[in-house]
Amino acid sequence: MSKFPIDLIQKRPPTLWRYEEALPAIPAQERVTFHEGFTPLVPFEVGKTEVLLKLDFLFPTGSYKDRGATVLMSQAKKEGVQFVVQDSSGNAGCAIAGYSAKANIGCKIFVPADTSPAKIIQIELYGAEIVKVQGDREATAQACLHEAQTAYYASHVYNDLFLQGTKTFAFEVCEQLGWQTPDSVVLPAGNGTLILGAYLGFSELLQAGIIAKMPKLIGVQARNCAPLYALHSRQVLPAWSPTLAEGIAIATPKRGQEMIDAVQKTGGTFVAVGEADIEATLFDLARKGYFVEPTSACVVAGLAQYVATLQEPEKIVSVLTGTGLKASEKLQKLRTKK
Ligand SMILES: Cc1ncc(COP(=O)(O)O)c(C=O)c1O
Repeated sequence: MSKFPIDLIQKRPPTLWRYEEALPAIPAQERVTFHEGFTPLVPFEVGKTEVLLKLDFLFPTGSYKDRGATVLMSQAKKEGVQFVVQDSSGNAGCAIAGYSAKANIGCKIFVPADTSPAKIIQIELYGAEIVKVQGDREATAQACLHEAQTAYYASHVYNDLFLQGTKTFAFEVCEQLGWQTPDSVVLPAGNGTLILGAYLGFSELLQAGIIAKMPKLIGVQARNCAPLYALHSRQVLPAWSPTLAEGIAIATPKRGQEMIDAVQKTGGTFVAVGEADIEATLFDLARKGYFVEPTSACVVAGLAQYVATLQEPEKIVSVLTGTGLKASEKLQKLRTKK
């Protein structure tokens, strides 16, 4: 049977599990799911250019990480896993903790101590144990790796089951465009959960003959922490400094080379966004009704940079990855400063 039986898919409920032939084989009744996915794809004006934004901040735990969590935790449950550990800048931790609660599986999440308080509360209320690590994202990963030697590592970075979930981003975009591919897809570039997942998803659609070409993948980083942008554009940037875009503040992404390869193979590129631009875009998005976190605003600011370089019109898709509700303290501070 085809990996993408289109007639069957279109008759199924609008969740990311409608692509079940392309996902790990887990019977419907065993899935750990909130019937998530198939998020809206809405038109959005960038200057005079119309693009499409996928509203992935509308997932049950508040970010696109639920795509990976539902698949990873479903497989973990199927294998009889009783306890998972994970490290995160916040959202992936919320997703794994939320789905662990749904599955009744024990969970311990490591986060940097300066993670947004709402993300920490969310993880705690799901019933997960939380470890606040003094130090950066790298130190947090190191602390967790130690525990992962003796527990199931539900990592969005190392565990490929997570990408099996995030690849559904590509399937949904393609289906929502009438089984066509966009010309380019503008995505955040932190640890690569979405870029590598999207690359995998579009590659599978290409291999199955559903689409005729890969879209260009455009990776967006914050200029204050832009290791992939620097490597790709052969620039030497100043050392890492704090950024509003906490979700993509990854100074040494473990799968960085893979991310650069994926972007380059599609003919895409990386862009880097300054802090003032992130802030201005955040408020602009809110005034248009999109209440998202600064990391998502960074992507839209990168999208605008990309659009400004275009000579020819393109069909462009981008994404709003995380809700603003978890960033209210940070947003309050920015608002007061204005
Ligand atoms: C809101 C948000 N957007 C984007 C990202 C980007 O991460 P990645 O490159 O792993 O997809 C993250 C990661 O935590 C995030 O929380």
